[in-house]
Amino acid sequence: MACSCMLVGLLMIWLYRVASEEYVVTLDASNFTEFVFKQNFIAVEFYAPWCGHCKKLAPEWEKAAKALSENEPPVILAKVDANEDHNKKLASSFDVKGFPTIKMFRFGGSIVQDYKGPREAQGIVDYVNKQTAPASAEIRSPEDVAALINLKKITIVGVFPDFSGEKFENFTTLAERLRADIDFAHTTNAKLLPHGDSSLSGPIIRLFKPFDELLVDFEEFNVDVLEKLVEASSTPLVTLFNKDPDNHPYVIKYFNSPNAKAMMFLNFSSDNSDAFTSKYRDVAEQFKGQGVSFLIGDVEASQGAFQYFGLQEEQVPLVIIQTNDGQKYLKANVVPDHIPSLLKDFVDGKLQPYKKSEAIPKVNNKPVKVVVADNLEDMVFNSGKNVLLEFYAPWCGHCKKLAPILDEVAVAFQGDVDVVIAKIDATANDYPHGPFDVKGYPTLFFKSASGKISQYEGDRTKEDMVNFIQKNKDKAAQQDSGKDEL
Ligand SMILES: *[C@@H]1O[C@H](CO)[C@@H](O)[C@H](O)[C@H]1NC(C)=O
Ligand SMILES: *[C@@H]1O[C@H](CO)[C@@H](O)[C@H](O)[C@H]1NC(C)=O
Ligand SMILES: *[C@@H]1O[C@H](CO)[C@@H](O)[C@H](O)[C@H]1NC(C)=O
Repeated sequence: MACSCMLVGLLMIWLYRVASEEYVVTLDASNFTEFVFKQNFIAVEFYAPWCGHCKKLAPEWEKAAKALSENEPPVILAKVDANEDHNKKLASSFDVKGFPTIKMFRFGGSIVQDYKGPREAQGIVDYVNKQTAPASAEIRSPEDVAALINLKKITIVGVFPDFSGEKFENFTTLAERLRADIDFAHTTNAKLLPHGDSSLSGPIIRLFKPFDELLVDFEEFNVDVLEKLVEASSTPLVTLFNKDPDNHPYVIKYFNSPNAKAMMFLNFSSDNSDAFTSKYRDVAEQFKGQGVSFLIGDVEASQGAFQYFGLQEEQVPLVIIQTNDGQKYLKANVVPDHIPSLLKDFVDGKLQPYKKSEAIPKVNNKPVKVVVADNLEDMVFNSGKNVLLEFYAPWCGHCKKLAPILDEVAVAFQGDVDVVIAKIDATANDYPHGPFDVKGYPTLFFKSASGKISQYEGDRTKEDMVNFIQKNKDKAAQQDSGKDEL
């Protein structure tokens, strides 16, 4: 007995130690709001137990939480299991789409920002310390300028005769709202600042940026208006896409914009790239405010984009425009003088859409037929046949497993001229997303001869697929049956 009591005692101590060594606070839907409301600052990791990157982050997050708990006042790191059903609504209310997602909550949760720092302990500590320091630091010396203003990034400096009053308070509020993305500083001495008129005494807000006019001054102090002005000024007229990581935040912003996207790809090392760039900037200036955002990309850094759009290097210099409904327009081998009329035709709705497609196969005599974007109309919609169409990706394991089964299904129907079994490489061909809502690979759709489209959701066995087709197929429409009946 005594022995087992001692064991229990030891176990309790051990459990207590484990519990007391957890510095990361666990939150869930039941106590999240209440707990966050009491914090001036808290960073929360939304994770899923099965996610590999979360498992890698966990010990770093814990180590950082321990270090930050020694701050004066202590800073808390927390976590929410966003995979738990009862936490899913909470996670989606903060727009958590992948794992891990880390959010920073300020002033009781009244400001919510994305954590954009590193994922290892010391990096987390440094980033959080910066995020919990005053939002704007004072510039008093050239050394401060060197430490606080990085001209390769956006920095906002408030110039004030003194640091009090409503304008200064509003500047500080702006800094709190935007600090996760932009560095802020303030000074009474504009002479210390890089370029621009240095005789200012303020109040004035000066934004430094590494593109376009390099510097913008605001004399507006309404926080909401200022936020919009800053947003507009921190988006480049033409976003640059090359291998320089300093440009990547602008590229992300570009792709998140609700505008139509005009992208020009060319070889930045070629002789005439300057002529293209300057013409393209002129066009961007001319079409400003008309719902189009502009990007110029170096072909050397754009392999991913080329694959995505189905483009070839021989086509550069090229302009591709994508609208939000997925429609694309392409002009390959452009010359600078084409660009203004190309944009005008786009805005006027005069361009023909571009479809990404593999070449139509010359022979298509295997049991499973090959569909590409350019023959999809003929082989699926206008064939008058019953078509089972597999959307696959070349890299997808489940698709490879399905391939021999699909072959057997096709062989089973070889005697039936009304039935076609086909496949389309969904990564290399555009297809209409309305009828075909493909969310993963493989996805199978069945189009009956009369045109009814439904997703096949049965088991991926020969028996089930054959039965499904037998049950759902229509008799194929005879080419001229309408005439005969007249
Ligand atoms: C919140 O609730 C969860 C589940 O009941 C619990 O594990 C966690 O310790 C609570 N957190 C706080 C800070 O009370
Ligand atoms: C400060 O900001 C508030 C809220 O945005 C605004 O109502 C007020 O007019 C601003 N003050 C000045 C001096 O612009
Ligand atoms: C870009 O141009 C340079 C210089 O003419 C050339 O060496 C390079 O191969 C070109 N790159 C591509 C992808 O065409």
